[in-house]
Amino acid sequence: METDMKTLPLGRAFTLIEPGPLVLVTTNDGRKDNVMTITWTMVTGFSASFAITTGPWNHSYAALQETRECVIAVPTVDMIDIAIGVGTCSGRDTDKFDKFGLTPVKARHVRAPLISQCLANIECRVVDIIDRHSIVMLEGIAAYFDSSRKEKRTIHAVGDGTFIVDGRRLDRKDMMRDKLPGGL
Ligand SMILES: Cc1cc2nc3c(=O)[nH]c(=O)nc-3n(C[C@H](O)[C@H](O)[C@H](O)COP(=O)(O)O)c2cc1C
Repeated sequence: METDMKTLPLGRAFTLIEPGPLVLVTTNDGRKDNVMTITWTMVTGFSASFAITTGPWNHSYAALQETRECVIAVPTVDMIDIAIGVGTCSGRDTDKFDKFGLTPVKARHVRAPLISQCLANIECRVVDIIDRHSIVMLEGIAAYFDSSRKEKRTIHAVGDGTFIVDGRRLDRKDMMRDKLPGGL
């Protein structure tokens, strides 16, 4: 069969399945707050279940392992340079809340802080760490959304240093209602 499909280097395949949105993950190791940027996220169920891909190369990982808690904070497009700044330095030697002017807000159930400037925050418990695949499984225990915020477009990282911004929202609720296992 004729096709216009050309072979793509397998190492670029991840850029085709764009995850999103890019998030900030906060932790507190008992001494201080820290925050990192995470592109590789996944929703794993309707019951507030998430996965992030990270590992011991990040300072935040020890806090995730030891405290079994974090907050997923969702920045918007106006925060892209902050998100990249946060993801290109380490809490090992930098107070990132101070450096990037982020305001920590006390969470209700975990010691890791919410980020006031973000569109949304989800308090999470670490329920599993799958070392073999560098996957940290999270269960959301409280969520917050700032509907007063004008900018609501989130950032989606392609993985090659470029980013896509949320576009038009399409509504197909009528077609899907009562037709999916989790419902709508
Ligand atoms: C745009 C962007 C996306 C990133 N995505 C991830 C990711 O999905 N997983 C990961 O482990 N690190 C990711 N990083 C790297 C961490 O955010 C980075 O290593 C961070 O500085 C770790 O901070 P820490 O050492 O204070 O924990 C990303 C960085 C950037 C700039």
